[in-house]
Order: sequence, then structure tokens, then C-alpha cells
Amino acid sequence: MESSTTTLSSKETIDLFDQYVIGNYTRYPACLTRGEGSEIWDAEGNRYLDFFPGWGCDLLGHCPPRVVEAVREQVGQLIHVPNTWYMESQGRFAQALVERSFPGKVFFCNSGAEANEGAIKLARAHGSPRTKIITALDSFHGRTLGAVSATGQPKYQQGFGPLVPGFKHVPYGNIDAMVKAIDDETVAIMVEPIQGEGGVNIPPAGYLGRLRQLCDDRGLLLILDEVQTGMGRTGKWFAHQEDGIEPDIMTLAKSIAGGIAGGAIIARSAVAASLRPGMHASTFGGNPILCRAGLAYIETIEEEGLLDRAVEIGQLFNRELQSLRQELGVIRDVRIRGVMIGIDLAMPGAGIVKDCLEHRLLINCTHETVLRLLPAMNIADEQIEEGIEILVQAIRRAAS
Ligand SMILES: Cc1ncc(COP(=O)(O)O)c(C=O)c1O
Repeated sequence: MESSTTTLSSKETIDLFDQYVIGNYTRYPACLTRGEGSEIWDAEGNRYLDFFPGWGCDLLGHCPPRVVEAVREQVGQLIHVPNTWYMESQGRFAQALVERSFPGKVFFCNSGAEANEGAIKLARAHGSPRTKIITALDSFHGRTLGAVSATGQPKYQQGFGPLVPGFKHVPYGNIDAMVKAIDDETVAIMVEPIQGEGGVNIPPAGYLGRLRQLCDDRGLLLILDEVQTGMGRTGKWFAHQEDGIEPDIMTLAKSIAGGIAGGAIIARSAVAASLRPGMHASTFGGNPILCRAGLAYIETIEEEGLLDRAVEIGQLFNRELQSLRQELGVIRDVRIRGVMIGIDLAMPGAGIVKDCLEHRLLINCTHETVLRLLPAMNIADEQIEEGIEILVQAIRRAAS
């Protein structure tokens, strides 16, 4: 058996998938083999410019050097440490996350869905006997049964019932609807600070602040799902910091460690205390590879001033895309916060994604009509110009 990953052509790898891998994903017809920053190569040596590195997990682009180095060093020392032992890197990474968010404690896991499952369990454990959680329509919280029940999009739930009971969905950005949905059994409100998969929906100014106030007034927990918005994406460490508030529970994953798989819950200490030994666990959660990578990721962002750079990149995209919007009626809206970019079209976006791919630019379309770009915070100006040129031409072709 061949263990190398680089000896097959894309076609040969696709044949393997057809035979052995469950077909629950729609995949691009190429096998990727190597990446560096915002560029990636396939098995045939074709180079792509990546405006969507790692589906939002690679905020420093592909293979950020400090993260690579930290992981290399760690796998030579210890690959896995069970959570029945202490490990320095987990303690230090938890400290680093808390110091950049709000006073509290961290639970580590492996993905966004797992973080949200944990947050739901924690909220119920803390607020017992209340069990109901209000979430938003068009939200996305993951695919496990609890997380998909929390998700406010029936298309992700169909065929998997019965769902976990106790979730109510209300329109995003609407405080009155949220107030009306609260009853005596409500324990928490759970939202994304900006909806990602739901179409890069930025709520009205003051929304998060009013949710915070509502939770305080009614004795509810505020859970923020920062799986997509967190870890620097919006130009702050966490998107809610723009609003000057703090949640009771926050969930993280995607770029928590610059591309190494992981997730986390951060909870205010009084809430965190509701998880006592034996109540919740995750075998690989907080493993030393994740934690070393996460520390290297944070160090890179701070030493290279990349939070400011994320804001600058957002402004650059905004200038280009707003002027295109003036010109082309097909662009209904441009929604940008840092390196989280949504281009809302008056037509389906899938054709534009395909056109860009043919011109070797990787982007995404979500919610049918919203082109979503989640570029790296360290993408170079020339790469942005090169990609925007391809994107603009593709939008023009689709609009004509
Ligand atoms: C806001 C949000 N929450 C949760 C998830 C689920 O994360 P994962 O795919 O790591 O389970 C996602 C994934 O896109 C997300 O965007």
C-alpha cells in the first residue's frame, strides 16, 4: 500500500473516491496537493489563487510557517495527551484565548458543531430546569443532531427527524421577535454575530447590545457562535467586540489554530462551573498539536499586525465591489467586515463560482445568491488585485 499522497493524478484520486468515499459532498474536479499562503496547487501542478482558503479555516492562508514549525516540533515530542493528564500547551492556549476575549474558562473540542453541542448542554446544565434556546432563522450551527436542530434552516434538517426539541427560530436582527419568543422555559439566546453560511448577514447596529440587555433583564444566557467570525476574521479577535459587549458563552472552531482541526467553548466562570467532572468530554479536545498551533497562530497575528490588515483588506474589497455595484444592477448588496465578504446577487451565484474556478480563482457561493469570500488576513495587495480582476470579469459575463 502506497502512503504517499502525491503520486496519483487528479483523475486517479477521483476514481478512488467514487469507489470508496461516501458521496455526501459536491467536490471540485481536482485533487489539491500543496499550498502556500493564498495560493494552492493541484496534482497536475495548476496554481489557484484562493479567496476561500480552507473553507474559512485558514485565516493565515495555507501552511503558515510558525504554525507548521510548532506542529512539526510537537509531533516529535508527543502526538496526543488524554484529558486525564495536564499539558502545558492546553493551559497556555486557554489563557491566550481568555485574555483576548472575556474572563472565563475554556473547554476544547474538535469542530464547530461539537462546540455548539457543548454550549447547548452547558446552557441547559446551568439553567436547569429551563431548556429552551432561541436561535435565528438562516443561522448555521453545524450538522450534529443538536446543532442542526439549533440551525434555523429546514433544508439541513429534512430527513433527520425527530430533531432535538427545545429550539425556537426567529428572524435575525429583529429584537421584537426575540422578546416575543421568550417564555418561562427559555434558558438562552444563541446567534452568530454575523451570519456566515446564511449569506454574510450583518445585523442592524446595536442588535448584539440589545440582545445582551435582554438576556440580563430576563435572566438568560447569551451564546455567541463565533465559529466563522472569530479568531481575527472581522479585524477584532472576536466579532462581538465591535459592539462592546461580552457573551456568557462563545463557541469557536474553523481558524482557531490556523488550519489545525479544533474547537472551543469559552464560558464565564460562573457558567463554566456547571460542568463538573464526568458531565462532558472530548477525547481529542485540546490535544497538544492543536494548542501549539493555536499559540503560534495568535503569535503570528499579533507580531505581524494582521488584525489591522484584515480591516484594510476589507476596505480594499469594499472600494472595488461598491464601484462595481454602482455599475451593475445584478449586485444587490455588498456586505463586508474585515475579511468576511458577501456579494449579494440578483441571480444564482453557482455559475460565477464555476467561471472563477475555470480561471483558477477559488471563491464560494452560499444561500444561492451570495458570493462569499473569506480570504486570508495576510493576502498580498497584488493577489487581491489579481483575484478581483477575475471575479469582476466573471460577474460581468454572468450579468450580460
Ligand atoms: C457559524 C458556524 N457554526 C458552526 C459551524 C459548524 O462547524 P463544523 O463544520 O466545524 O462542525 C459552522 C461551519 O460552517 C459555522 O459557520
